[in-house]
Amino acid sequence: MELIAATEGLDLEGKTLIAAALQGGAALPGSEDAVAAVDGALIDASGFEGKSGQSLRAPHPEAAALVLVGVGEEASYEAIRDASGEAARLVKTEDAVSLLGKADIEGSVRAVVEGTLLGGYRYRDYKTEENSRPHLERLHVVEAQEAELNEWKTIAEATNLARDWVNTPARDLSPEVFAGLIETAAVAAGASAEVWDRERIEEEGLGGLLGVAAGSDRDPRVVVLTYKPSRPTRHLALVGKGITFDSGGLSIKSSKYMEEMKVDMSGAATVVAATVAIARLGLPVEVTCITPLTDNAIGGDATRPGDVLRPVDGPTIEVLNTDAEGRLILADGLGLARRHEPDLIVDVATLTGAVRVALGDEIAAVFASDPEVADRILGAAGRAGEDFWEMPLYKKYRKSLDSNVADIKNISGSRYGGAIVAAVFLSEYAGDGPWAHLDIAGPAIARETSGERVKGASGVGVRTLVELARAFARPS
Ligand code: BES
Ligand code: MN
Ligand code: ZN
Repeated sequence: MELIAATEGLDLEGKTLIAAALQGGAALPGSEDAVAAVDGALIDASGFEGKSGQSLRAPHPEAAALVLVGVGEEASYEAIRDASGEAARLVKTEDAVSLLGKADIEGSVRAVVEGTLLGGYRYRDYKTEENSRPHLERLHVVEAQEAELNEWKTIAEATNLARDWVNTPARDLSPEVFAGLIETAAVAAGASAEVWDRERIEEEGLGGLLGVAAGSDRDPRVVVLTYKPSRPTRHLALVGKGITFDSGGLSIKSSKYMEEMKVDMSGAATVVAATVAIARLGLPVEVTCITPLTDNAIGGDATRPGDVLRPVDGPTIEVLNTDAEGRLILADGLGLARRHEPDLIVDVATLTGAVRVALGDEIAAVFASDPEVADRILGAAGRAGEDFWEMPLYKKYRKSLDSNVADIKNISGSRYGGAIVAAVFLSEYAGDGPWAHLDIAGPAIARETSGERVKGASGVGVRTLVELARAFARPS
């Protein structure tokens, strides 16, 4: 979608006007004239009061139509963002003018850009007819600066890039194909990419990744992205779980839980998309982004429960449940990240079903090596408008992972506290430096369309990581 900083004397012919109204029906500053031109009785009859979540599409004398969206009494950033998402889906012409941008509220232009691009997102690569259906192609944002539009557009587009990858059927997104797409996107953004094939992965001794890949006919990959600005202030390492399909392996999932498992490379999609945005924005932070990619399948040589794996560094692992595979490839990913001696490591993964039991489908979990790191992530998430909650890295659960034959086992054997136990497992490989683990298994998929969210892959975490990098670039 094209975003244009609208100028005076805009020709409204054929365009849809988008205006926001507060609770009680009063139009936000700047859109009063547009709203006044619509038959007031019509608005009254529709029941539209300007409440958050309400919307109305009405005929307008000068434009194709007027789409009114409610932003509630407070007209907060989040309310405007979500109202813009609703508007993007209601617009039936290819062109629209947003009078929301004129709202005298901090972050309103950003809210309009994010809401429109994210809420207007559609994944239609496999739809036969939907391709030809008109949708919003251009948005003219009133009283916005070009530079500001481009900045938020870059971040929203990165989020949609992650959504595209996660929505792609696993058949069409093998580790090899995904690695190629990652490389292309990263290089276009100005980062450099190294793709490791099976031979290189064996040379490097990534026993965790090879153990998970053993059951698949599709070879694994590791992609290492490097973004190095001319004067970096800090070095951030990002690690993303890239299970291109999680069948569970020999500890196979039931069909109900397997249905959605193309989502299991969301962590990789998120860290790569964030790296792309950081590079595009030219933030002065060095980024090393590592994504181990593999299917978790059930071929004849698949890892068996009781097998022992040797990751590149750290404790040997007895695999008792092959469905706890994310931590096996992340053990390698974190081991590689440590070698780069970054100032902070952040891993992102759809790691556990347990985190969904704990926090539900709209909140991502943060585990951090220390309170300062937790504050950094939570602060970034707050500014990015994403919902994260801290969970404890409770080291006393480490003993539940003691193995009879190896240094550690990959499951505790108890159903309880699974997200915490998984984080404690990862801490064995993250080293002693600052580290955060984001378990996004809940919000990686949006279960319904509303506001900025569109049913399907959410791209959760991209905005938080970019915001983290932005703040990290300013050492205190
Ligand atoms: N990929 C799953 C976690 C998941 C569940 C992601 C739902 C997205 C939605 C992960 O690999 C997994 O299977 N975890 C197991 C761990 C258990 C065997 C200790 C789980 O949560 O059941
Ligand atoms: Mn699994
Ligand atoms: Zn998994």
